[in-house]
Amino acid sequence: MAEEYDATRDAATEQEINGIAGSLEGFKTVLDVGVGTGRFAKPIAGLGFEVTGVDVSRRMLLKAREKGVDRLLLGDAYSLPFKEKTFDASIIIHVLHIVVDWARVMRELGRVTRGNVITILNVPQVPTSPTGAEEGRVANPIRSDVGGYPVRTQHRMWQNEQELMARVPPMKLERIRDEIVSMPVADALRRLEAKRSMAAQMVPPEVRRAMMERVIAMSAGQVVHRRIVEDLAVWKADQFEAPFG
Ligand SMILES: C[S@@+](CC[C@H](N)C(=O)[O-])C[C@H]1O[C@@H](n2cnc3c(N)ncnc32)[C@H](O)[C@@H]1O
Repeated sequence: MAEEYDATRDAATEQEINGIAGSLEGFKTVLDVGVGTGRFAKPIAGLGFEVTGVDVSRRMLLKAREKGVDRLLLGDAYSLPFKEKTFDASIIIHVLHIVVDWARVMRELGRVTRGNVITILNVPQVPTSPTGAEEGRVANPIRSDVGGYPVRTQHRMWQNEQELMARVPPMKLERIRDEIVSMPVADALRRLEAKRSMAAQMVPPEVRRAMMERVIAMSAGQVVHRRIVEDLAVWKADQFEAPFG
C-alpha cells in the first residue's frame, strides 16, 4: 500500500495547499493526523510551518521520511501522544472516511490543538449529471454480473464527513476545487487496479477482475469524465470540546 500510494494519488494541488495555508495564518506548529506519505505535510512544511506527522502505519511513515518529512511519530488518531493544546493547528486529510468513530478522532484533535482544525472534504457527486447517468448505466449490469456484491457509492463513502458537517458546522467552508477530470477508460481502470483502494478491496480479486473485463469490453475507446469537488472546512478547536455525540 505505502509503495504504490504516491504513484496512484495526485500530488496535493496548489488550491489545496493555498487553502490550508490561508487557514494557518498566524500559526507556526501544525499537526498532520494520518500524515501518510507526507503528501500535505511536505509542501506545508516547505511554506515555513513546523509540521509534525502522526500515522498508525510504520510503512507510510517510512515513505514520508524518505521524502524529507522529518517530524514523524507512530501514533493513533484515537489517542494522540500529545498533551492538551500542544499545536497551533491540526489537519486531517482523507482519513475521516477510514475511521469508525470520527467523533472521537475529532475530539482528540480538538484536545491537542489551540487554534484551527482543518480538513478537505470531497463533496460526493450524486449521479444526476449525464456523466453520472453513464456511470450508472455501466455499473448496474456489472452489479448483477458479479452476484450481487454491493458497489459502494461515493455518497456512502463520504458518510462520516457528511455527519461531521451536519453535527459540528465549521466556522469556515470554502470551495477550493470544482473541475471535470477526463481520462480514457483503460487508464482509469489501470489506475483503479493499482490503487488498491478500500472500495476495490471490498470484493474478492476474481470478482474485481471480472468487473474490470466487463467494463473494458463495454467501453472500449471511451473517455470517463469525473467531476471533482472539494471544500476546505475549518473549525475552532474548542468546537470539538462541546458535546456533539
Ligand atoms: C488515505 S491516507 C491519507 C494520507 C494523507 N493524509 C494524504 O492525504 O495523502 C490515510 C492515512 O491515515 C492513516 N490512518 C488510518 N487510521 C488511522 C488512525 N486511527 N490513526 C492514525 N492514522 C491513521 C493510514 O495509515 C493512512 O496513512
